[in-house]
Amino acid sequence: MNRRDLIGAGLLGGGALLSSALPKVVHAATMGTATTTASLSALAKQRGVLFGTAIGPLVATSDAYRQTVVADAGIVVPEYEMKWRFIEKTKGVYDFSAVDRRLAFAQQNGMAFRGHTLVWHQSMPDWFSSAVNADNARQVMINHITNVAGRYKGKIHSWDVVNEAIDISPQGVGDLRNTPWLQMIGPDYLQIAYETAAAADPGATLVYNDYGLIYASAGGDAKRAATLRMLERLVSRGVPIHALGLQGHIEAPIRNFDPNILYRFCGDVAALGLKIMVTELDVSDQYAPADIIVRDAVVAEAYKAILSCVLSVPATTTVLTWGLSDVHTWLSSSRPRSDGLPVRPLLYTDTMQKKMAWDAVANSLRG
Ligand code: XIL
Repeated sequence: MNRRDLIGAGLLGGGALLSSALPKVVHAATMGTATTTASLSALAKQRGVLFGTAIGPLVATSDAYRQTVVADAGIVVPEYEMKWRFIEKTKGVYDFSAVDRRLAFAQQNGMAFRGHTLVWHQSMPDWFSSAVNADNARQVMINHITNVAGRYKGKIHSWDVVNEAIDISPQGVGDLRNTPWLQMIGPDYLQIAYETAAAADPGATLVYNDYGLIYASAGGDAKRAATLRMLERLVSRGVPIHALGLQGHIEAPIRNFDPNILYRFCGDVAALGLKIMVTELDVSDQYAPADIIVRDAVVAEAYKAILSCVLSVPATTTVLTWGLSDVHTWLSSSRPRSDGLPVRPLLYTDTMQKKMAWDAVANSLRG
């Protein structure tokens, strides 16, 4: 059975996956089946959307990685280097050098650049908890947004202004995550954050970004409803917010996914006047079969399921994966496999060979 047979057998088209029925021809699984050399960014452009990726540390050290990013991405976002903990390690001393290098890389290669992220409860500097209190929190947040968004004014395609503010678990407070911002400023911190970002960089698309919005589970239903309520509140007050970012950290084999539910939700968001972006797409293979052919196929299947749905939504403008190659992915540490095998969640192998996931993304972009 060759690669074309795998496609014919429905491995990329929703057929049943029986690992025992498949040969263990590892090299075949690692190769893409591309019938064209078109890049993902070119295919996306034809479709009227932007395709891109997060750029992790390898963009600074690996030519092969850089070339792959340049080939396929029309937009990039620093995976870590724009987070507060990274740019203001020492209170009052900003270090933008890593961001500037990435921005220069993007500009030199004609790629748009996203900002990620201004207000989040994670990746906070060590000094934060002792230096920030209810008296100064509002000003600290405003200063941070003004400094960072202001520095990159005019250069940012879109800012994840607030990241992961919804918490529908019992720990949430009226659906909002019980973050230091909520505790010290109150629920208005969201409005203040967007207004400050709009003043600092009036040209950027201002995004609310979150996870857990994809699946057709009870939790997914509750989180979508809570997110919609929050977005409605902000929009009805005239808060400058322009898009919803669906992070898109999903799992293979994909279960509990109903494209109609996601499509309807995206429509509800669009009805508020907001655009849709997929901001951090990757497919964990933590629980997928060990066999590489089967694993790559179920990962590809998950990419196809999400993208064929989201790309059919007219309000969708942008899709980014959270990295391009398995050589570097946060899932190696956050979603490791119990059998110890390296994870394979992205579009290229660790030696930069196109995988079935690449084809799945390309075919979804083709429509
Ligand atoms: C992750 C990065 O990939 C890691 O390198 C970092 O250590 C922690 O954050 N949701 C987000 C991203 O919004 O910022 C996270 O990125 C992944 C989950």
